[in-house]
Amino acid sequence: MKQASNIWKHYAVGVCYYPEQWPETLWAQDLARMQKAGIGTVRVGEFAWVLLEPKEGEYHFDLFDRFLDLCAKVGMQVIFGTPTATPPAWLTEAYPEVLNARPDGILLRHGARRHYNYNAPAYQRLCAAIVEQLGRHYGQHPAIVGWQIDNELNCETDEFYSAADDAAFRRFLQAQYGSLQALNDAWGTVVWSQCYTDWSQIYTPRPVLNGGHNPGLLLDYRRFVSDSCIRFAGMQADILRRYVKPGDFLTTNGLFFLDNHRLMDRALDVYTYDSYPDFALELDKARDELLDRKWSKNLTETRSVCPHFGIMEQQSGAGGWVNRMEMPSPRPGQLRLWAMQSVAHGADFVSFFRWRTAPFGTELYWHGILDYDNRDNRKLREVEAFGRDLAAMDEVCGADFVASFALVKDYDNEFDCRADRWHDRIARHSEREIILAAQLSHTPYDVLYLRDETDPEALAKYPVLLYPHPMIMTERRAALLEAYVAQGGILIVGCRAGFKDIHGRAPMLVQPGLLRKLTGTEVEEFTYVNQLEGEQRYLPVFHDVLTPLAGTQVLARFEQGYYAGKPCLTQRQTGKGMTLHLGSAFSREMVTRLLAYAGVLEPFDGDLSAPEEVELVCRETNGARYYIALNYPDRPASLTLRRPMQNLLTGQTEEGDLTLPPFGVAVWKAE
Ligand code: GAL
Repeated sequence: MKQASNIWKHYAVGVCYYPEQWPETLWAQDLARMQKAGIGTVRVGEFAWVLLEPKEGEYHFDLFDRFLDLCAKVGMQVIFGTPTATPPAWLTEAYPEVLNARPDGILLRHGARRHYNYNAPAYQRLCAAIVEQLGRHYGQHPAIVGWQIDNELNCETDEFYSAADDAAFRRFLQAQYGSLQALNDAWGTVVWSQCYTDWSQIYTPRPVLNGGHNPGLLLDYRRFVSDSCIRFAGMQADILRRYVKPGDFLTTNGLFFLDNHRLMDRALDVYTYDSYPDFALELDKARDELLDRKWSKNLTETRSVCPHFGIMEQQSGAGGWVNRMEMPSPRPGQLRLWAMQSVAHGADFVSFFRWRTAPFGTELYWHGILDYDNRDNRKLREVEAFGRDLAAMDEVCGADFVASFALVKDYDNEFDCRADRWHDRIARHSEREIILAAQLSHTPYDVLYLRDETDPEALAKYPVLLYPHPMIMTERRAALLEAYVAQGGILIVGCRAGFKDIHGRAPMLVQPGLLRKLTGTEVEEFTYVNQLEGEQRYLPVFHDVLTPLAGTQVLARFEQGYYAGKPCLTQRQTGKGMTLHLGSAFSREMVTRLLAYAGVLEPFDGDLSAPEEVELVCRETNGARYYIALNYPDRPASLTLRRPMQNLLTGQTEEGDLTLPPFGVAVWKAE
């Protein structure tokens, strides 16, 4: 039975712990120190396969028995990870077909992690066996409260090229298309004599000249990888569900490139995200403007999959492997700021990675709360303070995130970006600008994925939907959007909308294809615009020159180029709502103006104001409204509360001008 996703009724703090990496004599002391710091849950086990099964079919539970019994004794809760991200050497030696491969077929060998593929029957059998043993042995253990399936599915690589993947890809395609003729049609293999005359001729995308693969194959490959991953997780979930105690949850830690919503529906009770904002501060890395604040984007995606989620790994120290990635230590205050960023966006459980830095191995530099010397330090004090903050703001736990608009996506278009560079450039540019505009103007948003299961109510929650570039459009999605607009919604779409079908082909339709009725426009012609420097700022990357149909209002026109004077922004009324069609990718200036035009910009301005560099989040529950302010830069920020509010972290009632310290956080309850 699946649990409801609202797993944590109160905020909870956890930590990732590896009992197998430390002398047993340290365990009791470690658990006592954790509890003193407010940590009530540990995640264990996810890389311990060789200890649990040192030889095929020979299971050893004694080490984890002792650890879990100790946890039960002292009242520490445990999340147990299935260890399938790290197949042992005996396994990969005996069954090399379980290894993942590079596109050129070279196998990725034992020695790192995630070196397996989802599709080898031997791997599925061996994973099922270890998961079954774990479920049977620990399913009823009193210390356990939840299970993590594998570790970071599709992290490190989401590309699989083993022989088992080739075989599974063929089966996937056979099930989808039924005949080679249908597949050849869908992929347009008539181009360049690519037609397949036997299923055995089809492979996962192997090396080809200039990487110029058939885009239909690449699009289906992404669907296939996602499907393989979900089936693999689903197989584990089905086994665990036979053994877990009522109330114990199944989760996995993400978020990576796959249909996470289907993964959630198929296998999980709750989603957990691994948050490492330090990736934004990596040395030698091109800086993104939002830096660590950009992690709010990932948290927003997680909230879309599971509105009340957990953090399985929250950064607590500097990041780095011995062979790659160099990151600074979180500065005093930053650890708490990043943990609060997670909480602001909907995390009700925050588990830090990791209790103490590993004294050996590839992650020698992926620092935990404690350093090698094991002394109390400022990071531990910050974790402790964060726990006190959570206790003080517990009434916010489970409150709904208040969004002004939804950024609409779907997996067909997301996957197509990996196959189509034009699509990717336009989509990525717009997404970055939309997020910047929303963040800097304090206009919070949700991400809404349109799926087969999506019903009209999911859309109707939002006064405005921004669906930037739905290049692939389906009848079903077009109908959902039409119903949304007809009942009063405002839909905003950008260039290239509706010119592709579900296979990524461009059918013979006047653009924006299935959206034409809604936009009331026709695309007369289109072009990349790198050469039009002046206009790039407001109307960047790509232009669709629009022709309004009768009844469509023109709001703006291009000022430059051979189509100067032609419409670039239109408005069309349908029922009680309207559609705005922008013939371009989105700039932050344009997004800001469109959100203002739609009446949803800066929704909290009547209650409080903050400078651009401060993120503002609003949460609501039972009629109460809470504001969370997060100050990312290393300098104080001035805010103004326009009415008295109670600061839950200090207990003070505040009003008027106030200062948030560098990396500071405040949580107010609006009276
Ligand atoms: C995650 C992973 C952890 C640890 C951490 C730091 O990707 O789940 O096991 O490796 O990052 O690299």
